[in-house]
Amino acid sequence: MIKKSILIKIITLKSIILFLFAGCSNGTNETAQLACSLDDPCNIRFPHVTAPSTPKGQAAALFEELAEARFPGRVTVDVYPSSQLMTDDDSLPALFAGEIQMIAISLSKFDRMTQAFQIFDLPFLFPNIEAVERFQNSDTGQNLLGTLNDRGFQGLAFWHNGMKEFSAPIPLRVPEDANGLKFRIMESDVLEEQILNMGGSPQKMALGEVYQALQTGVIDAQENTWSNIYSAKYYEVQPYIMETNHGYIGYLVAVNPDFWQSLPEDVRTGLEEVMDEVTQWGNQRAEEINLRDRAEIVASGDSEIITFSEDELAVWQQSMRPVWEIFADGIGRENIAIAQSLN
Ligand code: LMR
Repeated sequence: MIKKSILIKIITLKSIILFLFAGCSNGTNETAQLACSLDDPCNIRFPHVTAPSTPKGQAAALFEELAEARFPGRVTVDVYPSSQLMTDDDSLPALFAGEIQMIAISLSKFDRMTQAFQIFDLPFLFPNIEAVERFQNSDTGQNLLGTLNDRGFQGLAFWHNGMKEFSAPIPLRVPEDANGLKFRIMESDVLEEQILNMGGSPQKMALGEVYQALQTGVIDAQENTWSNIYSAKYYEVQPYIMETNHGYIGYLVAVNPDFWQSLPEDVRTGLEEVMDEVTQWGNQRAEEINLRDRAEIVASGDSEIITFSEDELAVWQQSMRPVWEIFADGIGRENIAIAQSLN
């Protein structure tokens, strides 16, 4: 396996420049490698930012195992979890430039490239993972998979993590309790407006920096899924977790279209079958993993979990509606209506 330090250097200025010009491109680029000749196995480097125990960590590991078992000696997959290789921000230009071959990045983080995925960030649009699943499996949802194909990101699947909760140094029983708190958020304008709407101060930050920022008081609060809160140990430094289930974290699993088309046809279709199998397995397990990690947090006794009655949650939902209005036209009101009809 190539050393981490060398691979990090692979993220050259060239890859970033290529990416910046992605808007003018038809999605082809010169650097995607030709892959999988008989004496040169095809290597898929697949970095991501969460721990191996999370829904994404487990699905990525299964993809590696099944892909290599299906194509022994012809395909190798190297998964790099926990931001070991690079941040999500760096992996976008790296995939575009062909320096890595697969990503699974939170839909929120494609915000600068498309407004279509902002639907997944609208607070309280989806009541649970099952509702997200129905929307993603609808024709509208499946069309979203191809949103970034001509920008150099061919969508292969949506993978779930889970529903988001807030954590904070004080209990947030109503949105106004967040007044004045600094919240870490992912790179998403919707999430920025969501926090502003609560009277908080949003700070976009990479996942790998959050624990220390919470510990040192650079930020006060954050939002994430149970599996990320547990595996990244935020519960150790956040005395309260609010079980609002106010939003969704899921991923676009994407490849560089040039790379994908360069694969021998049997390898490409075989890997797509493996991806389907892994997606089904992972998406069925994601909720269970989050519930397991919620139970671990309860057992730790480090963080108190604040739960809400339906009436109390209705207050949160109502207060977030102005955020929808800001983004509804960009997302497409018809898509929001379809998501609501599948709730
Ligand atoms: C985050 O940055 O909070 C998420 O994108 C992490 C993840 O990939 O689940």
